[in-house]
Amino acid sequence: MTQNDWPVAILGSGNIGTDLMIKILQGDGPLRMAAVAGIDPDSDGLARARRLGVPATPDGVDGLLAMPHFGDIRLVFDATSAASHRTNWTKLEPAGVRMLDLTPAAIGPYCVPVVNLDEHLDATNLNMVTCGGQSTIPIVAAVAQHGIVSYAEIVSSISSKSAGPGTRASIDEFIETTSAALQSVGGAQRAKTVMILNPADPPVLMRNTVYCLVNGDVDHGAVESSIIDMVARVNRYVPGYRLTRGVQFETFTAENPLYIPQTGKFVGTRMTALLQVTGAGQYLPGYAGNLDIMTSAAKATAERIAGYDTQTSRAS
Ligand SMILES: NC(=O)c1ccc[n+]([C@@H]2O[C@H](COP(=O)([O-])OP(=O)(O)OC[C@H]3O[C@@H](n4cnc5c(N)ncnc54)[C@H](O)[C@@H]3O)[C@@H](O)[C@H]2O)c1
Repeated sequence: MTQNDWPVAILGSGNIGTDLMIKILQGDGPLRMAAVAGIDPDSDGLARARRLGVPATPDGVDGLLAMPHFGDIRLVFDATSAASHRTNWTKLEPAGVRMLDLTPAAIGPYCVPVVNLDEHLDATNLNMVTCGGQSTIPIVAAVAQHGIVSYAEIVSSISSKSAGPGTRASIDEFIETTSAALQSVGGAQRAKTVMILNPADPPVLMRNTVYCLVNGDVDHGAVESSIIDMVARVNRYVPGYRLTRGVQFETFTAENPLYIPQTGKFVGTRMTALLQVTGAGQYLPGYAGNLDIMTSAAKATAERIAGYDTQTSRAS
């Protein structure tokens, strides 16, 4: 191991795990693919790992723990399902290895790199929220810089083809974790998440709609600039992330309020942002931007943790 060599492993050899493995293999360090562990010996992901020279096991977390070089691994990405992550963590926590959780299990704190990456560099288990959360929380956080976001609602639509069984098994956690992180990381007082798995063929691109209700007067120009700035920052790790049209604002006055069933009359601004995420096509084709927004955020987070880890171990 050197300063530019930080061995990592991936649990889960499905859509997310395989896309992440390819991104790490194509990266220029410090992350080095040291292992992939799945439970389906016939999975395309394990076959690809072996072809690409990455040690692979079909025996899940136990197979990973039994690998002779397990002690070198600095971080394990979990790309299985929320339920499997809970089991995997009970086995890996005593081994003292960090986990970066790409499932919505949310055992550790939430991380959305452009909003709070530096706050949890010591976390032993860090959660990457969801693909819908990684796409929309930066926008809510940009709006929350300029006023009180009393409500945020997001609608995330992805192609059925890009959602493997692990995603389908974790849909309840997807909704709960995304809504919780829209509040704790995005800064909204209340939040709602809607997810659509669209079976259309040819498959649809990942699209997200973000609504924010901002109390009272708000400077529309300032909000729009913050959103554009945030999109540019996400673009540094996901080039296909973009607004499909200008940010829309509607103003509701005391004479013309918006009526909300749960809370009554709302006076202020409703902001709507429409986003599209085109993937780089490293594993599934470009429609699956939902893979890229998650795997690129996870890779950027692990790279930052690797830099921090190297710095702190040199200092001690
Ligand atoms: N597909 C997406 O767009 C997306 C985006 C962001 C996050 N996620 C999350 O990533 C996870 C994986 O999603 P996916 O679409 O890649 O699903 P998937 O079904 O394609 O992949 C999951 C893989 O994990 C393996 N697996 C299951 N239990 C395991 C265990 N105990 N140990 C090792 N391997 C195990 C499965 O055999 C499968 O290969 C889910 O939790 C999902 O919520 C998915």
